[in-house]
Amino acid sequence: MTRREGAVEVDWDLLHGRAIEAMECAYAPYSEFPVGVAGLVDDGRVVTGCNVENAAYGVALCAECGMVSQLHLTGGGRLVAVSCVNADGDSLMACGRCRQLLWENGGPDCQVMTPLGVRTMSEILPQAFGADDLDNVI
Ligand code: THU
Repeated sequence: MTRREGAVEVDWDLLHGRAIEAMECAYAPYSEFPVGVAGLVDDGRVVTGCNVENAAYGVALCAECGMVSQLHLTGGGRLVAVSCVNADGDSLMACGRCRQLLWENGGPDCQVMTPLGVRTMSEILPQAFGADDLDNVI
């Protein structure tokens, strides 16, 4: 990760590769839809996750859940860029719930690789509900 005039320059190839490696660890026997995700942290760390399903289908963990857990387990910080992939290694949009996870841990400026190219969190989760809303009640 390099910073230029405040903007973060992201090594998307590296993140994409780490997301594919994570996808290969997925446990997705029910959907047969493995997912991997990699996130660049503001201190340069890369955290990853894969989806982990369950015989009780509804309790499946999305790949982003594992990645956010690893973020906190390994020292916290803020996500600055995220790449999520399917079994073909193609970019995958985070589901609605996981966009909320990314918002909490990356905020509006976190960059996300999407099938349409790089977008910010504020573009893929407009008018997001977040921690600020909790403070706005008198
Ligand atoms: N999945 C993720 O891991 N992340 C997403 O953002 C979308 C969906 C997983 C959940 C389930 O294990 C499989 O993909 C099929 O929905």
